[in-house]
Amino acid sequence: METTAAEQKYNFEVVRWFTVATVIYFVVGTFIGVYIAAELAWPFLNFDNPYITFGRLRPLHTNAVIFAFGGCVLLGTAYYSVQRTCGVRLWSDKLAWFTFWGWNLIIVLAVITLPMGFTQAKEYAELEWPIDILIAVVWLAFTFNFVMTLANRKTSHIYVSNWFYLGMMVMITYLHVVNSLAIPVELFRSYSIFSSVQDAMIQWWWGHNAVGFYLTAGFLGIMYYFVPKQADRPIFSYRLSVLHFWALMFGYVWLGSHHLQYTALPDWTGSLGAAISFAMIVPSWGGAVNGMMTLSGAWDKLRTDYVLRFLIMSLAFYAMSTFEGPVMSLKVVNALSHYTDWTIGHVHSGALGWVGLIGAGAVYHLLTRLWNAEIYSVKLVNLHFWLATIGIAIYTIAMWISGIMQGLMWRDYDEFGTLTYTFAESVAAMHPYYVLRAAGGFIYSVGGLIMLYNVVMTIRQASGEPRASVATAQA
Ligand code: HEM
Ligand code: HEM
Repeated sequence: METTAAEQKYNFEVVRWFTVATVIYFVVGTFIGVYIAAELAWPFLNFDNPYITFGRLRPLHTNAVIFAFGGCVLLGTAYYSVQRTCGVRLWSDKLAWFTFWGWNLIIVLAVITLPMGFTQAKEYAELEWPIDILIAVVWLAFTFNFVMTLANRKTSHIYVSNWFYLGMMVMITYLHVVNSLAIPVELFRSYSIFSSVQDAMIQWWWGHNAVGFYLTAGFLGIMYYFVPKQADRPIFSYRLSVLHFWALMFGYVWLGSHHLQYTALPDWTGSLGAAISFAMIVPSWGGAVNGMMTLSGAWDKLRTDYVLRFLIMSLAFYAMSTFEGPVMSLKVVNALSHYTDWTIGHVHSGALGWVGLIGAGAVYHLLTRLWNAEIYSVKLVNLHFWLATIGIAIYTIAMWISGIMQGLMWRDYDEFGTLTYTFAESVAAMHPYYVLRAAGGFIYSVGGLIMLYNVVMTIRQASGEPRASVATAQA
């Protein structure tokens, strides 16, 4: 590839690798999701083979979408936007490559160990202790490189997207380390140093913050950089974005207990978690409005700019899931929703709608900037957008109906105080919704496959030089 001024100034190569890895993991992770959804609809798909049973593939799915897809898009976009907003190259190229290969090694280890049944049985923290140590090392290397790049910046202030990425890095470091504290007994077996209800609380303190700081704050870093860039307008309110940042940082850490309502956890902790969860509607909606209003006066762009559609639609889902979550945290609602598919519907309106769509929007944006090319087929971007939107609608509506039905069936009793339905009856009633979920998920995944095709074709036809605008423009 010919070396240009931009190529010399910034490290685009590592971002390119992260971008391609993001798309591949997105396709793989969502297809595993479709497979496990199909296993729930048609259990014969477990084939009595322990390596591909639902129980082992489920954590593979969550790790693939959260850490493989989510991790690559977060690291790649953070490396890209910190360079552009600070006007300097990454502090260390070597460390950047170390994080790329280190993160991918972690993913390979997850792919090997999870189907083999090696797990700490803590959700989103299943990987065994040697892999946990590797995660901490790679994550700290990423954080250090990011912070040093910020320290070298040529701009006077630190743009808000960097604050969100930084918030994610700091919080995830200590949450991951504390929740992973364990006594190793074998190479792939260990026991948590916490026991009983403390273990549950620490786990969900991590669990919710994996959502709050990784899937939310990190992806808000993407939002604050890519929405204004794609819309070619400044963020609606910088002041609101700073308020959004501090409110999330101080608020989210208190929410974990809403996952443990009506358990051995002291009652007041659940109430506190619910109260602060409910308050989180305000900053979350402030942030969503801030992103959407960036388009004010230029809404017509949505008619022609399909990449922008991904970004704005993702904000609509961000708003929706950050309204639904607080409502579900209330004890009276949680008594119905907990253990049901309603939670799964909420998870995927956030995961497919917010995380998936903003991730795809960022990838399409990067594609044109990093490979100096027009997107191979804009029509296919539009097709992807509609498949994704239709897929999410089918998935989440099916889960809302099945979840609420499950909750109502489980609590229904007759005049003698006997339960009206057996558990098996409630499982049988779910069948049509599980088929619908698998279909919605399949449609969504086909959209991802189309994105992969578009990315490959764009790269193939690219000249290989970053665009002139990238070479000269300040972020
Ligand atoms: C203010 C924002 C939010 C609040 C207060 C909130 C609240 C909740 C509540 C109450 C539950 C159910 C807990 C239970 O009954 O076990 C839940 C589950 C979950 N939420 Fe949210 N949510 C929010 C936003 C989001 C977003 C944006 C995403 C995705 C990106 C998300 C992902 C999840 C996940 C993955 C779970 C399932 C956890 C598990 O049981 O494994 N949430 N959330
Ligand atoms: C085609 C797309 C997808 C399909 C069909 C799918 C399907 C599934 C299924 C069947 C489950 C297990 C539900 C259960 O235990 O009852 C699940 C869990 C989960 N998925 Fe997905 N998924 C998809 C995409 C994604 C994406 C893109 C993300 C994140 C970015 C994600 C995050 C999760 C999480 C966090 C859970 C655990 C939820 C919980 O424990 O409450 N999924 N998914």
